[in-house]
Amino acid sequence: MYPIPIALFGSVVKEKPNYSLVGNVGIMSLGPATMYISSHKSHYTNIGVRENKTFSINFPSSDLVVESDFCGIATGHKTDKSEVFKTFFGNIKTAPLIEECSINISCNVIKEFPVGGMDVFVGKVDETFVNEDLVSDRKRPDALTVDPLLYASDLHYYKIGERIAKAFSIGKEYEKKE
Ligand SMILES: Cc1cc2nc3c(=O)[nH]c(=O)nc-3n(C[C@H](O)[C@H](O)[C@H](O)COP(=O)(O)O)c2cc1C
Repeated sequence: MYPIPIALFGSVVKEKPNYSLVGNVGIMSLGPATMYISSHKSHYTNIGVRENKTFSINFPSSDLVVESDFCGIATGHKTDKSEVFKTFFGNIKTAPLIEECSINISCNVIKEFPVGGMDVFVGKVDETFVNEDLVSDRKRPDALTVDPLLYASDLHYYKIGERIAKAFSIGKEYEKKE
């Protein structure tokens, strides 16, 4: 995967929100909306997920690169990360959502299994919050305005450059060529 939209993985541990940065995040199904996170078993965030059976996925924009990277360097085992971002809650009171992030998702864990040293958490999406300013056609957020923080395994963060074509559409040009 190159590059990866990076996410802040949240849980409540000892009554405080904790966030860790993850590249291992993805969609498993759109209906029912189901996502996964793969987080090393030693990570502090996993404690809250196991205890509450809930977690959050928050997508930072590129201007949150410093705070996001900090959550990927510091561990809740040693550092209180609860004040790095402003937290709010939706229906699930143990899935902390980040006010500064334009897209927030809360999940209920429906499956959990190990892969090597990682804990894989599969979550059924309960709620998705999108900053209204970003919804250009009132239905879907515009990716350029969302300006997601991307990570690549060359150990750098990136941001999106330009929109180049319409999906489910540009491919039709291939047939015309024949
Ligand atoms: C760019 C980046 C991506 C990361 N992706 C993952 C990941 O997908 N899974 C994981 O377990 N750790 C990942 N990490 C490491 C954790 O974010 C890091 O170990 C963090 O301190 C764990 O926090 P916690 O112990 O408070 O949960 C990543 C770190 C960075 C900087």
